[in-house]
Amino acid sequence: MKGYHIAVVGATGAVGAELLGVIERRNFSVASLRAIGSARSSGKSVRFHNDSILLEELTDRSFDKIDVAFFSAGGEISRKYVPIACQADAIAIDNSSVFRMEPHVPLVIPEINAEDVRGHRGLIANPNCTAAIALMAIYPLHRVFSVRRVFGASYQAVSGSGARAINELRQQVEDASQNREMRSQIYPHPIAFNVLPHVDSFLENGYTKEEMKFQNEGRKIMHLPEFRASLTCVRVPVYRAHSVAVSAEFERPVPVEQAREVLAKAPGIELVDEPQSNRYPMPLSVAEKDNCQVGRVRVDCAFENGLSFWVSGDQLLKGAALNAVQIAELL
Ligand code: A2P
Repeated sequence: MKGYHIAVVGATGAVGAELLGVIERRNFSVASLRAIGSARSSGKSVRFHNDSILLEELTDRSFDKIDVAFFSAGGEISRKYVPIACQADAIAIDNSSVFRMEPHVPLVIPEINAEDVRGHRGLIANPNCTAAIALMAIYPLHRVFSVRRVFGASYQAVSGSGARAINELRQQVEDASQNREMRSQIYPHPIAFNVLPHVDSFLENGYTKEEMKFQNEGRKIMHLPEFRASLTCVRVPVYRAHSVAVSAEFERPVPVEQAREVLAKAPGIELVDEPQSNRYPMPLSVAEKDNCQVGRVRVDCAFENGLSFWVSGDQLLKGAALNAVQIAELL
């Protein structure tokens, strides 16, 4: 077969646009590409390999003769159309959280649990972006020192909430500079010049859904049912790339030099840790990069066998589009 027939649902969105870019850049073998959006996009087109591809409106027939369907149009679209794609014998790679915790659905970060794709039944889930970026650093350490629990806080970019949130921040920055009132539609408060300890909706236990995804998805991806994680997820006025401050406790003592060696050798992540020269990971340095970065590695002064560090990664890439295409490559 010469290449795969691909569908991208949500091709006009923040993640969808990256998907097209990653498929192109990695020379994923494509026989045809169907770019799918809502009726709002009819008549518009997207660029792919120097071609202009007309957007198609999502329908029940969108997956006929499709081999691989990437979904990045939100949970409701995935809930309804992933089963339709599977029915049409396409393999769905879903960026939403709808199916991630279903036992028969592999939830995969190729650097960590690539072998889990083997049992798939036509659907593979792409992990939560913050979880994916933090696990890129936690997992290699876990393999050597056995992680027990994690405390942390995330610093999440607005592009994680989609293209409209990027515009909201841009508009608010402009409004503030002109002394105009800042208006919020995506977030409950202005995000410009502010931080919101609020990502996703609140649960009865006081955490947000986003915060609990880290523990739940971490357990599934690392095959570690006892893993515990308490996170505070924070939206910050950054356009692109998430960061996570992590304090992790391990079963075994963690000599800091050995931890640095482990991180320096781990796939998909770079050690950037020269604080005396002001070198540490930052959103601006990882934006549009495939690799995540880890730094500020130090012995945690509050945990036994603890290590603290800071990890940044482009959540549109490793947290979404890149990871999804890597999954497709595994297939
Ligand atoms: P469209 O632009 O055609 O409305 P983001 O995550 O950046 O907000 O993007 C959301 C993506 O999901 C967009 O590509 C959007 O397409 C797509 N989308 C939203 N609602 C629908 C729908 N009802 N049918 C198909 N695609 C949808």
